[in-house]
Amino acid sequence: MKQLAPSILSADFSRLAQDVDCIEAGGAHFIHVDVMDGHFVPNISFGAAVMKSLEGKTKLPFDVHLMIEEPDRYLEDFVTPQTEYITVHQEACVHLHRTIQHIRATGVKAGVSINPATPLNMVEPILADVDLVLIMTVNPGFGGQKLIPPALDKIPRLAEYRDRAGLAFAIEIDGGVTPENIGLVAEVGTDIIVAGSAIFGAEDIPGRVREMIRKMEK
Ligand code: DX5
Ligand code: ZN
Repeated sequence: MKQLAPSILSADFSRLAQDVDCIEAGGAHFIHVDVMDGHFVPNISFGAAVMKSLEGKTKLPFDVHLMIEEPDRYLEDFVTPQTEYITVHQEACVHLHRTIQHIRATGVKAGVSINPATPLNMVEPILADVDLVLIMTVNPGFGGQKLIPPALDKIPRLAEYRDRAGLAFAIEIDGGVTPENIGLVAEVGTDIIVAGSAIFGAEDIPGRVREMIRKMEK
């Protein structure tokens, strides 16, 4: 089953709990939590306190995307009973296996992400040890950017590698997904699809979530 993970980066922070109610009502599967530090990416978003303010207010699991340098210093802050995945960037980790092991030691599933210009072979050595690979289809830092098509080409190659190697990690895509392209994005072999502005920018948020789920399942 394919799953939709709306990114609260594009939510209205002054009414975050209501916005989250809207995505839950539409049938979303995760809350994608975009954490930016102003170093790894040229923008600052929010930290663990904001995510934790949603604990217990929604049943949706947290899918944490850390766009930060030195993630080992902070990742425990994001471990809650609702946290399903914590994903770090290959480009931000000097000792990637150590960081992935650190995430798993907290009891949470571990993900690795790569930017559009980072080739797949940069994560090949870690694929047997992760639960999720997050393929960025925009350069991380901001919501509302346009999907970079060559980044999408990594998905079928990654899925093929996974199947050939008998591995079971989930493949997630993040950046520039819209109601117009979500069908294609799902078709190439993605398991979890992130969308921010396309969902929270909609007038009818639950309706948009339902529309996107319908289009990705087709
Ligand atoms: C990009 C973030 C994304 C972003 C997606 O830096 O990691 O999760 O919020 O936003 P849209 O769907 O608007 O491209
Ligand atoms: Zn993200």
